[in-house]
Parts: sequence; structure tokens; C-alpha cells
Amino acid sequence: MDTRDKYKRYVNISMVEKVQPVVIERANGATITDTEGRNYIDCFSGIAVINAGHCNERVIEAAKAQMDKLVHCCSYVYHSQPTADLAEKLAYITPGRLQKSFFGNGGAEAIEGALRLAKQFTGKTELIALQASFHGRSYAALSITGNNARKRRGGPYMVGCTFLPAPYCYRCFYELEYPQCRLRCARALEDIIRFDTYDSVAAFIAEPILGEGGIITPPDDYFLEIEKILKKHEILSLIDEVQTGFCRTGKMFGIEHYGVEPDIMVMAKGIADGFPLSAFIAREEVADSFKPGDHLSTFGGNPVSCAASLANIEFMLESDLASQALEKGEFLKKELAKLAKRHKIMGEIRGKGLMVGIELVRDEQKTPASTEGNKIRDFCRESGLLPGLGGIYGNVLRIQPPLVIRNEELIEVVKILDSAFAQI
Ligand SMILES: Cc1ncc(COP(=O)(O)O)c(C=O)c1O
Repeated sequence: MDTRDKYKRYVNISMVEKVQPVVIERANGATITDTEGRNYIDCFSGIAVINAGHCNERVIEAAKAQMDKLVHCCSYVYHSQPTADLAEKLAYITPGRLQKSFFGNGGAEAIEGALRLAKQFTGKTELIALQASFHGRSYAALSITGNNARKRRGGPYMVGCTFLPAPYCYRCFYELEYPQCRLRCARALEDIIRFDTYDSVAAFIAEPILGEGGIITPPDDYFLEIEKILKKHEILSLIDEVQTGFCRTGKMFGIEHYGVEPDIMVMAKGIADGFPLSAFIAREEVADSFKPGDHLSTFGGNPVSCAASLANIEFMLESDLASQALEKGEFLKKELAKLAKRHKIMGEIRGKGLMVGIELVRDEQKTPASTEGNKIRDFCRESGLLPGLGGIYGNVLRIQPPLVIRNEELIEVVKILDSAFAQI
């Protein structure tokens, strides 16, 4: 039986429409190689994880060196050096007064802990999140996820979760135009608090750019408007940087584009270039509201993952990966804009840095071109390019390559996309 047959027989994959028919053997930089020796340009980074490139030498070396010394001790029963060093580094690179980190293994786990912390600190119990958002597959994370395609058949969910229309300008839920709308979608937060809650809101949760929702990119002044309302009502801002973090958007963290200071921030994916690790970080007084017994994780803060993460962050800072992502992203969007003049299917190109979405539409009414999206993805794969596809209508091509991708590779990406759009 080959790998694909074993997947069919022994791996539970019934929850995905299709596992891409590529058996990956190895990868380096932005190149993925399959078991037949065929190379692909990776434009999805294992869902926005491999920001510093596949098998980044410094990250791998650091992990190997740590493996020779200590793999696990439970970083909450004993002190582990890489865990402490990483926590110190995160306090340094995260915005504002964020200082104390708690480590877990994946995004959803960190979201769970962060929600608990917000409740603990405020003594309040409700949460407000965004429609079209995604925060993970655990119970609380799904409860605050604003998309029934992810929640169907899993309910009922946690009580006390309310949703605010997303800042989705291309398909404005209020059918208004920015900036004449004066951020109607942000101002609606006031009404939601007033009419949809029992006035016990602990936190407002948002992604700086809604990744799974379809790279939905809020206007520049969106979070400032939100912050004003949160401050007035003494509600914490909980920013989910799981997908936008670690240079992906052209800044170390996506929220830095918006000039606001989160109270709690959640990180995972790009934190350790592929090693499983997540964290939530908070100001000291917020973090310290956990009392003995309130939280823990057996594997969280694993020394190998933490050593890998430290090397990953050092690599990012030394190579100014954030600026690289910004420049490469601007170049990519400019080239894509040229294609859009010829391919009507490209409804909108959006995003920041190398978190780029192309919303595919069938006509002027913006009918989502989801079937076409799948065909384009297949064509790209056959041509040696692996993009992502997502969005609330499944019609957003996601271009989220390793940030070390070379310019020649980006030019090739654009060429393949051009051919893919042409054959639709
Ligand atoms: C913004 C955001 N939050 C949370 C998660 C959940 O992370 P994980 O799959 O590691 O649990 C994801 C995953 O895609 C995400 O994009």
C-alpha cells in the first residue's frame, strides 16, 4: 500500500474535501519536493506556518542541539531554560506592555487559555467576536468562530458569545462604501454591547486580518475605532495573531499595522517554523490573575519547540524578515493587479505583506467562483505551484508563501497564476 492508500484506509480524513494528491518527501526554503522528485513552489507554508522557510538551517540546528540535552520535563513543573529565554524574547518583540507568556502546543489551545484568562481578570463572562472569523477547532475556539461551515453538527456551543459584522469591505454587510461608511461595522460594536449582551463582556476577540475568512483586511482605522469603544466599556482586546504573527504581514505582528495595544495576544503557527508551539501573552497584572490550579499544559513550552522558536525569531530579526515580507508582498500585489486587468475572475486582491488573497468572482454581481477556485488550484498544482484556497465562500486563493521566497520564484508564481486564470 502506498502513502495515499494508507491515508484512505487508516487516516481519518473524512472531514476534509480532499487531501492534495502530493506526497511530500522533503522541503527547503519555499520549495517542496514530492516522493517522485518533483518540485513545487510552496505558497501556503503548511497553512501559514513556515515563515522562515522550510528546514531553516538555524532553526533545525537549534532544535537538534536541544534534543541532545533535553526533550521534555514539563515546563510548568520544573524550570526549563529555552522556555524562559523564549518568554523573555516574546516580551521584547510583542507590542506595548505585553509581558508574561503561557505556552501551549497549537492555536486553539492558546485561544482557550486566553479566553479563560480574560474572564479571570475581568470577572466578566461574555465574549464578542467577529462574523467570518476563525479561531480553531476546540469547543471555546469554535464557540467564538463566526462561520457555521465550521460549527455545523457540533452544537450547542458556549453561551455568552456574540458576533459583530466583519470589516469585509468587498462585501460590506451594511452595503456601504469605505470611507463614507465612517466604519459602520466598527461602530456597531456599541449597539451589540447595548442590545445583544447582558453587560458582562470580558473580551473582544479579533484577527488583525481574517485569514480563514478569506484574508479579509480591515481598513487602517478599524481597530482604533474598536479600541475607543472597548476602553469605554472596560472590555479587554484579545488579538488572535495565530495566522498574522511572525512577520507574515510585513510587521512582526499584524496588529502593529493598526496602532493599538492588545491586552492579550495569541500566537502559534509561525512561532517556531513548524515545531508545535503556541503562546498567549498578557500584561503582568492580567497574566497574574491566574491562581494556582487555574491552567496548565503537559507539553506546553516544550524545550525543543522553544529552542527552535528562539532561533526562528533571531533569524527573523537579523534578516529583517518583516521588511522582506512587506517588499515582496507589494511586488506580488502589483504584478497581480496587472493580471486583474485581463482576468475578470480576479474580483479583489487584498492583504498585507505575504498574506495575500485573490477573491475569485464569476460576474459583476460578485458571485463567488468556488468551483473555478478548485480548478485553478488543481491547475497550479499540475504546473508546480501550491497555493491555498479558502474564505467563507471557498473562493479566495491564498498566497502565503514562506517569507524567504525568492523574487524569481514570485515571478514564476505570477506566471502560473496567469495561465491558470486564462484556462478558466
Ligand atoms: C486565526 C487563527 N486562530 C486560531 C487557529 C487555530 O490554530 P490551530 O489549528 O493550531 O489550533 C487558526 C488556524 O488556522 C487561525 O488561523
